[in-house]
Amino acid sequence: MLIAQLSDIHIRPKGRLYKDLIDSAQRLRRAVAHINALQPRPEWVLLTGDLGDEGHMDELLHAREILDGLAMPLLALPGNHDDREQFRHCFADHAHLPRQGPLHFAVDAGAMRIVALDATVPGQHHGQIRGEDLAWLGATLQARPQQPTLLLMHHPPFVSGIGYLDAYRCFDTEGLEYLVRQHPQVQALLCGHVHRVMLRRWGGTLAFSAPSTATEIDLRLYPQARPASHAGPTGYALHRWDSAQGLVSHVVNLDEQDGPYPFF
Ligand SMILES: [Fe+2]
Repeated sequence: MLIAQLSDIHIRPKGRLYKDLIDSAQRLRRAVAHINALQPRPEWVLLTGDLGDEGHMDELLHAREILDGLAMPLLALPGNHDDREQFRHCFADHAHLPRQGPLHFAVDAGAMRIVALDATVPGQHHGQIRGEDLAWLGATLQARPQQPTLLLMHHPPFVSGIGYLDAYRCFDTEGLEYLVRQHPQVQALLCGHVHRVMLRRWGGTLAFSAPSTATEIDLRLYPQARPASHAGPTGYALHRWDSAQGLVSHVVNLDEQDGPYPFF
């Protein structure tokens, strides 16, 4: 099966640009059209947070309008730029979302179980793992130990080396890492937030951050680096799963490319 992963789409109200520069809505429309045109088509789409930029309902409704163009079901998790209650209201028809508290969920998506942990902290940009989150995740993973599972979070649980991103990372992840290590059905931990593709061996599985469809954060691996981003490359991730080969994750670049060139 194929599962696409969008992240950090940062949609503004209609008529507004992301950072007053980037038409993030147009970029998301291009991603939606690309996913719909894939052969074979993904069966599900995951969205690992930051649907809007300031958390307002007009951003979320604009994002929702574009995402409703997907030809397959969507499972979305909020990020630090989303307001939890506005998000819950905007996705009130997503019956898997809880009516109160963090927007954790678990959904059977064909052969794969999707488990999402909402570690956002209302009003803050960093993430944090609390005891209640671990209790929910432990019970959820324990309930289906044989089921191949993808775990979703907005913030990666690791240090990126880009100092201005790491100031807003997910904190208190030691218990989470220990818990995930006890559950080898977790094929990968899929994240966003950092607007770059990163990989880390973590908790006995692979932690992965997807690209943003809006911008890419600059690769500035020194402590005093000033925050910076560029208009690309942007894209999404495509995860292929079968029980014999396991999970293989691809990164799809949405920028204009010359080609195709002859293979030989
Ligand atoms: Fe974020």
